[in-house]
Amino acid sequence: VIQVDRRYRFSASHRLHVAALDEAQNDALFGKCNNPFGHGHNYEIEVSVAGPIDVRTGRAVDVNRLDSLVESAVVSRYDHRYLNEELPEFEHTVPTTENLGVQIRQRLQDGWDEAFPEGQPRLERIRIFETDRNIFEIAAYE
Ligand code: NI
Repeated sequence: VIQVDRRYRFSASHRLHVAALDEAQNDALFGKCNNPFGHGHNYEIEVSVAGPIDVRTGRAVDVNRLDSLVESAVVSRYDHRYLNEELPEFEHTVPTTENLGVQIRQRLQDGWDEAFPEGQPRLERIRIFETDRNIFEIAAYE
């Protein structure tokens, strides 16, 4: 089994804010990330898949199919969006990068069987590079 990691990029903005908490509590919890006007990130996501080498192609993943899935399920959905106000999945969920990762995993899993009907490769994990210092890893299954 070979693992292949492939990276994609999108830009989006968000505001970390819990509606049930007051201003002081949100400020204490999130600091400048609670700025009411939001702030942006150039997210880089790394999608890791694993599978056997296809003897015909010599590859473990059809990269074109992976690209199509990630572009349609993730990049086109989130690129240049204000996550808090434009995406229904974040209407009642704080768009932290943890929660964004859970959404990305779900969206990839939802499209996986159609993208890879022969059942290979499998999704291993997703990593999201939010900043140079903030890196989140989401296992393929909880
Ligand atoms: Ni942020």
